[in-house]
Amino acid sequence: MTNSLDAVSVITTKRDGGELSDAQIDWVVDAFTRGVVADEQMSALAMAILLRGMTRRETARWTEAMIASGTRMNFTDLPRPTVDKHSTGGVGDKITLPLAPLVAACGAAVPQLSGRGLGHTGGTLDKLESIPGWQADVSVPAMRAMLADPAIGAVICAAGADLAPADKRLYALRDVTGTVESIPLIASSIMSKKIAEGTAALVLDVKVGSGAFMKNRDDAHALATAMVELGRDAGVKTVALLTVMDTPLGRTAGNALEVAESVEVLAGGGPADVVELTLSLAREMVAQAGLTVDPADVLASGKAMDHWRAMVAAQGGDPDAALPVAKHSEVVRAPRSGVLTQLDAMGVGIAAWRLGAGRERQGEAVQAGAGIEMHAKPGDIVVEGQPLLTLHTDTPAAFERAIDALDGAYKISDTDDVKQPDLILARID
Ligand code: URA
Repeated sequence: MTNSLDAVSVITTKRDGGELSDAQIDWVVDAFTRGVVADEQMSALAMAILLRGMTRRETARWTEAMIASGTRMNFTDLPRPTVDKHSTGGVGDKITLPLAPLVAACGAAVPQLSGRGLGHTGGTLDKLESIPGWQADVSVPAMRAMLADPAIGAVICAAGADLAPADKRLYALRDVTGTVESIPLIASSIMSKKIAEGTAALVLDVKVGSGAFMKNRDDAHALATAMVELGRDAGVKTVALLTVMDTPLGRTAGNALEVAESVEVLAGGGPADVVELTLSLAREMVAQAGLTVDPADVLASGKAMDHWRAMVAAQGGDPDAALPVAKHSEVVRAPRSGVLTQLDAMGVGIAAWRLGAGRERQGEAVQAGAGIEMHAKPGDIVVEGQPLLTLHTDTPAAFERAIDALDGAYKISDTDDVKQPDLILARID
């Protein structure tokens, strides 16, 4: 080992504001994966990166090293173009559920490796696991068969242990060392998994607002730009939409509640914001895949619902089974008449999490039926005493803490001058 390739010199290079060489990055990520670089050394390096940043070259090399720590999947032999989407996460963000079968019904193959939720934003796998019988674990051959089947064409499943394993370990360290909020580390973490998953094209939904990871537009723009550049550098056609996350998406937050709302969208109904974002992302995905159909026509034809049913059934789920319902519910009523001018995504997200829809620590179980139904959204006129929210949980002791989280999360005013903000703020390609 040369002097430049030891953990302390890599850490001090970055600590002192230097640029890491390709050799330093390759070595440190590989040595961390092999257990040669200790957790405390990698944590120190993550903190140095958080404070000093990384150049575009360093971030691209870091991403490549993360990918090289595991297996890169390859779906280039499939008869249809592959395209996926990633959302940076928001409250009530169930868009993947209607989107993946819709884009499959448009003629693309959608390999969607997803995660479970942590904290106030729910995970896609947690939502789907509320469908009786549905299994998140799918072998690579079974995944390939689902993608190749023209009646299915989409798979939403858990990432295997061999998908960017260095990122899995590093993310767990960042979570407990105050080093999550680094744009190069977030961008490389997300993109290493998406590139390793083998998709040829990718659409990113980068959320900005109170319920999002990125609270302000400049940070969200910088993250989106970094991810688009990483995708491009790795040969994956990538585009990002910046979308608003100040209010929850749709009218539900919680696992089974969000599945039911997604099925409404696939049946041609559902809340306008969920339909709008699903169609906007679908149009981007279809274009990235080089297809020319209009996703709105495909949704209206019922074909997306057929693909949903086939996709759920292929993973052991019963698309006709009744979804779990929580044992207890409590209604929050409007304290006065007026116009609902605010329904804060973070407040609703934390309340749903406290009701049991989310987990505090990796590996904890979530309640399938827990969550919140929203009977009014900003801009709606409400009358004193009418139901505003219905809270659901299996553990009634959770109501008090959930109601605490909602304190100040909604506002009712006399004004009827509520501006509906655009859902899509910008497009970055
Ligand atoms: N999601 C990820 O996968 N990685 C991050 O660093 C942040 C969010």
